[in-house]
Amino acid sequence: MIQRSAKRLSMRALVVDDELPNPTAEGRASRALVEELQARSVEVVEAASAQDGMSVVMSDSAIHAIMVDWTLDDDDGHVRATELLRFVRSRNAKIPIFLMAERGEASSIPIDVMEMVDEYIWTLEDTAAFVGGRVAASIRRYLEVMLPPLAAAVMKFSQVYEYSWHTPGHTGGTAFLKSPVGRIFFDYFGENLLRSDLSISVGALGSLLDHTGPIGEHEKYAARVFGAHRTYCVTNGTSTSNRVIFMAAVGRGQIALCDRNCHKSIEHSLVMSGGIPSYLVPLRNRYGIIGPIPPANLKATAIKAAIKANPLVPKGADTRPVYSVVTNSTYDGLCYNARRVEELLDPTVDRIHFDEAWYAYARFNPIYRDRHGMHGDPKDHTGPTVFATHSTHKLLAALSQASMIHIRSGRVPVEPALFNESFMMYTSTSPQADTMTARTLLAWAALACSTAPVSAQILPADRTTAWHPGVPGGVPPGASTRTGQPASARWRATTMPSPPLLPPPTSTTSCPAQSRLSRGEAQ
Ligand SMILES: Cc1ncc(COP(=O)(O)O)c(C=O)c1O
Repeated sequence: MIQRSAKRLSMRALVVDDELPNPTAEGRASRALVEELQARSVEVVEAASAQDGMSVVMSDSAIHAIMVDWTLDDDDGHVRATELLRFVRSRNAKIPIFLMAERGEASSIPIDVMEMVDEYIWTLEDTAAFVGGRVAASIRRYLEVMLPPLAAAVMKFSQVYEYSWHTPGHTGGTAFLKSPVGRIFFDYFGENLLRSDLSISVGALGSLLDHTGPIGEHEKYAARVFGAHRTYCVTNGTSTSNRVIFMAAVGRGQIALCDRNCHKSIEHSLVMSGGIPSYLVPLRNRYGIIGPIPPANLKATAIKAAIKANPLVPKGADTRPVYSVVTNSTYDGLCYNARRVEELLDPTVDRIHFDEAWYAYARFNPIYRDRHGMHGDPKDHTGPTVFATHSTHKLLAALSQASMIHIRSGRVPVEPALFNESFMMYTSTSPQADTMTARTLLAWAALACSTAPVSAQILPADRTTAWHPGVPGGVPPGASTRTGQPASARWRATTMPSPPLLPPPTSTTSCPAQSRLSRGEAQ
């Protein structure tokens, strides 16, 4: 028999009480509680001061319940205990907190403290067995509400210990146990990962193709978190998300307004759909940094003129664009005022797609308000239908290839059955459950965090000209020559009107913005 390598979910509690080591009545009561919890398989972390308690809370996210002594650090004013409670609640609204006090101290507990605490332990009155049982029960409830739908379903399924008779053919990792090299693989990745790599035929997990069961629930959950009317989870990166939207929106001979600095998946979609591109050309400054598409070029008159001058548009073709795509943030990390972009494009097009592959965190930090596709309250959405595509594996914590399509249906609503045909055309019938589980977990993490990495620069759409340096002639010594063009040519490319037919869009699979910003180059 191969020794256990699958890890069980553990339960862990933090007890913050300076009396714990003391041979006093309170110290003995706390110690009895610790021992009771340990007997119930709850691992206990002990902290002897408020400061120590804060350090544990900060460094250990696997704490599932906290017990705090009300007279912590011998402080009869209860300042230390209150500070610790505030600190915990500022980081976690849901973790169960038990306040340990003597019943006589009840009147000293103010309302704001009561609001932060879930339960009270009257240390010198309650029995350890009863209190220990309540703490363990609260940990179980906390673990249950913490897990988003698909993650909960995968973990529940793993506890049924079903044999795996279906795909994937490694059958829960057991195929790897038969050879030395397979065994190395098994030990390296771990049994849990392989056991939860399950087939679409596991009915308990639902279906990604028809959005049912826990998978459907997790898409609804993600829509709530990311502010969409509807969210689709995609298992082959935003390259695929972009294709799904494009192919659902654009038919042969129809016009698509494409950011010239788009990802290659947009180019591929043009080739596959037979759509006609009308490029929206962003600014580029003398340092070679890609700026935004100037607002003037997003106005209906400018777009009409560009389409009229576009030699790719055959005579007699319908000249109303059916779709537009804007890369947000730009490849150099500048974010649009998405609300303003919608206003500008509204008279021209019924579908606006913000390719936010590098920008999935925007909704979770107020500094990006209005600067991402799913801004504001989805209930208030009017105008064109808006799509946002997120590589959740890029700047959120999902596994590779995890991506999401978020939709806000507008005046030409998305028809779910039709859209799903496009979705299925690009979706494997064998999606990997681990990737999808990781995505729901990250949605939870995003919801739980009030701040997110700040890795993009903000640029209001109507301040684009201010960003433009406007100094004719060349690049200062030492400036980036990333474009490979002579400085003057590069400058002209940003200031002169673009020729009607541009070379294919500059496409890239990396995000220069991230590396440049991290080097502090793009100011
Ligand atoms: C703007 C943009 N869109 C889409 C993609 C494709 O994303 P993924 O790598 O998740 O397929 C990228 C990748 O770098 C990107 O930069």
